[in-house]
Amino acid sequence: MDWGMENRLSRLIQPDGRALFLPIDHGYFQGPTRKLEEPGKTVEPLLPYADAIMLTRGILRTCVDPTTSKPIILRVSGGTSMVGEDLANEGITTSVRDVIRLNASAVSMSIFVGSKYEHESLLNLSNLVNECEEYGVPVMAVTAVGKELEKREARYLALCCRIAAELGARVVKTYYCNEGFEKVVRGCPVPVVIAGGPKVESELEVFEFIHDGIQKGAIGVNLGRNVWQNEHPVAMIKAIRSVIHEDYTPKEAQDLFDSIKEGKQ
Ligand code: R5P
Repeated sequence: MDWGMENRLSRLIQPDGRALFLPIDHGYFQGPTRKLEEPGKTVEPLLPYADAIMLTRGILRTCVDPTTSKPIILRVSGGTSMVGEDLANEGITTSVRDVIRLNASAVSMSIFVGSKYEHESLLNLSNLVNECEEYGVPVMAVTAVGKELEKREARYLALCCRIAAELGARVVKTYYCNEGFEKVVRGCPVPVVIAGGPKVESELEVFEFIHDGIQKGAIGVNLGRNVWQNEHPVAMIKAIRSVIHEDYTPKEAQDLFDSIKEGKQ
């Protein structure tokens, strides 16, 4: 692996082989998402506990202190919105020149396997990999489902992850699924991180799916709403960190969350 590529990946994936990415890119198609109305304020207290943040160039330039040393994963696909015709119809929004200018450690883009725009999104990924590899910038592919959350099952996710890796993604972000997640990871020759999806009912549920996902081979998470839409986002990210980097069980993470929430830590 070229030095630049290896250096960038090592900033994202920690020496223990694990990673906690914090995405705040939701506005690129959802607008001012709840609790992300002012992304700078949302992310500031959480930054110390994230291994990297994922966001668009617009939010990076306007909301993040340029003196930060936090690695940046730049979202470079878009061009659709929640109220538009089809979320799958994304294109590449950001040039590799801008990626380098912003000193990003990686870029990310969505692929929409099985959608009307499957072909375009897969060629977008291939072209982005072609360009980014020239400069040693890793591409993280996001296996997106748009509004069809029911697609999050092992057979479909395994298909998406494998295709993303075959086309050259260095990391794949996909959803966790209760059954067969180990098959999703096994079929994907590059590291897999788990995306959260909409906020779930309880904190314990989050700790459980992260813990189980890691046991089954994921290297960590790219988790947004289940962190910053929680009433206690700092407690949440610290507890998630303990599962990822300190092998806490879900119960131990819940105890940590409760004690931070109650001001005991
Ligand atoms: C959607 O693709 C966004 O890019 C988010 O980065 C992704 O969905 C992960 O965030 P969340 O855990 O809120 O789903």
